[in-house]
Amino acid sequence: MRIGAIASVRLMHAGNINLRYRPPDCRAAGLGRLGTEGRMTVETKVSTKYEPEELWFPCSLDIMGWDEHFHNLMLNDRLRMAVYKKAVKNAIEPGMAVLDLGTGTGILARWALEAGAARVYGIEVSRKILDIAEANLAQAGVADRFTPINDLSYNVELPEKVDIIVSEIIGNIGDNEDCAPILADARDRFLKPGGTMLPQRLTPYFVPVASPATNAQIQRGVCKSISAEQDLQVLLDRLGVADPCEVYYDVVIPRSRHLAEPLAGRTLDFFSDGGETAYSFSLTFTATADGEVTGIKGYFIAQLTDRDVLDISGDDPVSGTASDSWKHCYMPLARPLRVKAGDRIRLDVERWPEKNESSAFAFRYRWRAEVLGDGA
Ligand SMILES: C[S@@+](CC[C@H](N)C(=O)[O-])C[C@H]1O[C@@H](n2cnc3c(N)ncnc32)[C@H](O)[C@@H]1O
Repeated sequence: MRIGAIASVRLMHAGNINLRYRPPDCRAAGLGRLGTEGRMTVETKVSTKYEPEELWFPCSLDIMGWDEHFHNLMLNDRLRMAVYKKAVKNAIEPGMAVLDLGTGTGILARWALEAGAARVYGIEVSRKILDIAEANLAQAGVADRFTPINDLSYNVELPEKVDIIVSEIIGNIGDNEDCAPILADARDRFLKPGGTMLPQRLTPYFVPVASPATNAQIQRGVCKSISAEQDLQVLLDRLGVADPCEVYYDVVIPRSRHLAEPLAGRTLDFFSDGGETAYSFSLTFTATADGEVTGIKGYFIAQLTDRDVLDISGDDPVSGTASDSWKHCYMPLARPLRVKAGDRIRLDVERWPEKNESSAFAFRYRWRAEVLGDGA
């Protein structure tokens, strides 16, 4: 049995991120550069443009460290902005009370207020970013109907129940910003009976891919980032990870690199899910071509409203079908898997919460892949 990569993640409310892992066999894998202490080193280069198959800093692993650069990236993500703007305008009816959970720079709140919402409560854990939201909404002339709340949503009480909860706390495989428990808690405590969630539901998809170019960047120890604050080596040190193959990355992987048809993971239904944080599932793909599986590509398709679908599977940054901020999720395999057309490839994904009472975002992921055979 050939086994791929293992990654486990824990995001602490205090801003620490720890990753407990099995010590990887970097030398056997032949990946990454070995530093003086025998561990991997990675250089992060700041850039504003990206190309397909470029290795980018995994933004969802550093939620508490997001700064203006990342918010600017999101605000300039044409795909995200176009679909969300249409969805908010479609969902908001005049006079509605709205919760914008994770309001960030206040863009969803602004669209909701411009669409006629009576008032918007904007919850945001970062004081610095919430200050920007307040300034933006004042400039737009709608600040009098906006109530900023600087806290983690779990700690908040609202003075009333709302008609709709809008949010964009989605990671590129769905729950890798912990949206499931956060939105379940908010829905149960803040939403009127019969109220609406935006997004409504989301399905992650996974597909084995051949992207030696991406793994070569891991081997060279080169990763790109939008800001010097997002340094992969700093993140890996904070996580306690020696092998860069132990984490996933933000990478646009073109469809031409797929070695099978994508399969759906677990759908999150924000109207009914209990916010489960522990699960495991297996997917069995059939290889559509001979090749070497270097990693697993993950992405999501989200139903924002009855009419609006956000699909980040696209792969063209120039025409804007790829998402600038999400890209895709790339889960590298330390040891690529050689497959023949017709082979079955099994992927096991596991997610579970960590037992730590002081932790608000506490979860770990593990994935592994193996070839079951059957090919010609
Ligand atoms: C992906 S950003 C989106 C910001 C904004 N809604 C937008 O669409 O541009 C998510 C924001 O939610 C905040 N956030 C995530 N989970 C939160 C929580 N449980 N409570 C409060 N803020 C949260 C983060 O700090 C971040 O600013």
